[in-house]
Amino acid sequence: MSYTEARVLAGGLVHIPIVIGIFWLFQNFILQRTSAKTSSPTKAPSESKKTDSKSSTESSAPTKQASKPVHADVPVNTYKPKTPFLGKVLENYSLLKKGAIGRVNHITFDLSGSDPALKYIEGQSIGIIPEGEDAKGKPHKLRLYSIASTRHGDNMAGKTVSLCVRQLQYEKDGETINGVCSSYLCDIPKGAKVKITGPVGKEMLLPSDQDANIIMLATGTGIAPMRAYLRRMFDPKERKKNNWDFKGKAWLFMGAPKSANLLYDNDFQEYKSNFPDNFRYTKAISREEKNSKGGRMYIQDKVLEYADELFTLIENPKTYIYLCGLKGMEPGIDEALTTVASAKGLNWVELRQKLKKAKRWNVETY
Ligand code: FAD
Ligand code: A2P
Repeated sequence: MSYTEARVLAGGLVHIPIVIGIFWLFQNFILQRTSAKTSSPTKAPSESKKTDSKSSTESSAPTKQASKPVHADVPVNTYKPKTPFLGKVLENYSLLKKGAIGRVNHITFDLSGSDPALKYIEGQSIGIIPEGEDAKGKPHKLRLYSIASTRHGDNMAGKTVSLCVRQLQYEKDGETINGVCSSYLCDIPKGAKVKITGPVGKEMLLPSDQDANIIMLATGTGIAPMRAYLRRMFDPKERKKNNWDFKGKAWLFMGAPKSANLLYDNDFQEYKSNFPDNFRYTKAISREEKNSKGGRMYIQDKVLEYADELFTLIENPKTYIYLCGLKGMEPGIDEALTTVASAKGLNWVELRQKLKKAKRWNVETY
């Protein structure tokens, strides 16, 4: 080989590591972009708010809270919007009595045949995709509904899920507008098949501690998860099946516009007479009772009325608080608890943050 040939060859060889380097950098760039895309799947807007991105295996990681549930296998997103499960309507009946305002129905779906099985636990929600298209000609998006049944379903066979749905109705420019999904559900006949997604949500789960105290603040259909908790605590069939004998104190504050609008009231009265030491039931009937200022009676007025007892309970580390229903009730509840806390020299916002961190302050409002 001549001197010139050797120089050309050496020059060529020098470029090899540079080419490899550029190729390596390019490959890494592509890989990073791909993994960023796959690790943040797009969710339906309403679902992303509630969906816990952790997998069910991750959720079994130990928590700092000794008495907090180690919900080892909380099922999440078994059915996604693109591949929903078709659940058959088994029941659809009104929960309201004569003279009530609006429409609220209890609706049960058959989950048998779901493969993988659509399982859920108390406090979770499911998504419903209504039939039809929106104004832009696109399929309707899913709406979330809190599950009103326990994991065993209303018939204890473990293959149904029940919801408590209020039909959304409002007036606009002199016209009555009916909500898309809530009307679809309230009108749906027995035997029809409905697109179901989920389950989602880990915010409203009950602690596993049988001695825990559970304070529940519900307005309207916000009673749905509470109905499931209370069945689990006090229904004889549930107690037998669950091997979970609730021994703590459960206190339900329920807000409804009229007595005829109280949901699942007969069941709650029965729990009260069977478990007088464990269950307390306080109602705020906004359009039949007046608060101390002469206004409508809301649950925050009842919170103020029982402030001392409630606060003693809240200061107990075994007490968990659950709020569900109208978003509008949150400022009222905060205001009431601020008043009570400051009378004791405490700062409610700071205390609420601590409770939230300890998973003892759980809110699902809409
Ligand atoms: P849509 O047709 O989607 O109409 C809703 C839209 O109408 C609103 O976005 C707003 O733009 C407009 N609108 C509403 N009210 C008015 C008004 N007064 N004036 C003008 N415009 C207005 N609902 C239940 O009944 N039971 C439950 O257990 C339940 N659980 C839920 C749990 C979660 C976590 C969430 C996020 C929501 C829950 N909801 C529940 C609410 C439910 O998801 C739907 O939002 C509700 O049923 C209305 O949906 P729709 O399709 O009937 O109404
Ligand atoms: P009202 O409608 O009389 O003002 P429903 O969903 O069946 O209508 O029940 C919701 C209940 O919550 C009603 O009694 C309603 O009273 C009440 N409510 C409305 N706004 C608030 C609020 N800001 N705080 C607490 N309760 C409220």
